[in-house]
Amino acid sequence: MSSWKGIILAGGSGTRLAPLTTAISKQLLPVYDKPMIYYPLSTLIQIGIREIAIITTPDQQHLFKKLLSDGSQLGCHFEFFIQEKPTGLAEAFLITEEFIKDSPTCLVLGDNIFYGNGLIDLAKEAMSSPAGATVFGYRVNDPERYGVVEFDKENRAVSIEEKPEFPRSPYAIPGLYFYDTKVIKIAKSLTPSKRGELEITDINKTYLSEGSLRVKVIERGVAWLDAGTFESLLQAGSFIHAVQERQGLMVGSPEEAAWLNKLINNERLKELAEPHKKNAYGRYLLNLVGNKNANN
Ligand code: TTP
Repeated sequence: MSSWKGIILAGGSGTRLAPLTTAISKQLLPVYDKPMIYYPLSTLIQIGIREIAIITTPDQQHLFKKLLSDGSQLGCHFEFFIQEKPTGLAEAFLITEEFIKDSPTCLVLGDNIFYGNGLIDLAKEAMSSPAGATVFGYRVNDPERYGVVEFDKENRAVSIEEKPEFPRSPYAIPGLYFYDTKVIKIAKSLTPSKRGELEITDINKTYLSEGSLRVKVIERGVAWLDAGTFESLLQAGSFIHAVQERQGLMVGSPEEAAWLNKLINNERLKELAEPHKKNAYGRYLLNLVGNKNANN
């Protein structure tokens, strides 16, 4: 079987963040010391995905290319795709059909930030059984903003609803999804929802009705943040700042993720750090090379 491929959805309209997003995509905005897209990108690299499609709006693609290049500098391969209009998350699979080919796929939303090794373990578990689909359930205070999953007493998913007015459970589905190759066929069969979008929730419901949807509850130690509102953007930045300050470890550095996964060696890491050596980001990467756990 082919190895896993990744998709980062970095289009959308970002209306809740206007005027921040009037001239620039949400996923390029800063979350403390990095562009937002670095966080989901690092998550994909951490879980072992190297071939990644990046979907953007037409007018901003050049900025994402400028920021990320073709991925070879990180031992990865990035391909860039355009979504003409923000007509839903499920369109990602139609846009990237040629890229996905016969691989299982992990989709991550470009404004979702994950923190914690527990999540990496869960994701690797999901990738070890590629048949069917895996989504996560994460307890939140405001489930009505998200896709919501309800469980039975045996912890099996029984229903999934998109932004329900009256949520049946406090478990939201974070923007990190794992699908087998059937996802393209399912995406092709979808019709737009009442709000005119091809819904990821409808893909998940199809797997649920076929009995092939696994839902894993994310444990307490993992943080899932989305940075789509003024409040959550500020909170995400403060959270990253607090964690990094306290631990002296970086969250969401693609260079570090690639280095830890041995996709790049010390020399390459130094080269990547060089342009940033006057700031804390570059110095952090340079320090990794001197660390006793350094790669070759
Ligand atoms: P949302 O936050 O649901 O939508 P949005 O980014 O357009 O923002 P707003 O609601 O404020 O207008 O999107 C979640 C993620 O998915 C985000 O990274 C943008 C991306 N996205 C697309 O790339 N294409 C789409 O069609 C949609 C709806 C979202």
